[in-house]
Amino acid sequence: MLTKILFVCLGNICRSPAAEAICLFKLKQQELLENFQVDSAGTGAWHVGKEADSRMKDAAGKRGILIESKARQITLDDLNRFDLILTMDNTNLKDVENLADELNSQISSEIRPLLFYGSNKNILEVPDPYYGGEKGFEEVLDLLEDAINGLILNLNET
Ligand code: 4NP
Repeated sequence: MLTKILFVCLGNICRSPAAEAICLFKLKQQELLENFQVDSAGTGAWHVGKEADSRMKDAAGKRGILIESKARQITLDDLNRFDLILTMDNTNLKDVENLADELNSQISSEIRPLLFYGSNKNILEVPDPYYGGEKGFEEVLDLLEDAINGLILNLNET
């Protein structure tokens, strides 16, 4: 059976497209790709149709990870199309929960912070790197890689 995962951030040009690409990269490495469908979306619509931020593409590229997705905005349909919706920060989480409220929470997906799966239980938000420097992108990628390792382990155990 396919497990469908949607990563969500604000703009869908930095954190969630990187999470999507990292997840695809790790699933491929572990020969698990055929069991999963992976996508990403933003809660906002400002960047719809755009490629990921070049700073994030460059930082991920140095790790051998190719970010190919184009930005899109999350839809109400997504809440019933995906099994797991993984948000980057508390604002994304609240925004997606508010969408679920529009459907009276009659949804099939589980919504939770991606860093629920991270090894450092004191960090529950992936910081927004958009207005920061190069170091911020590396920190985001470190957090994403760690949490996605935990996510894949968890999904393979269940
Ligand atoms: P993301 O980063 O949510 O990780 O894609 C951002 C991208 C753009 C903006 C904010 C955050 N923005 O304000 O345009």
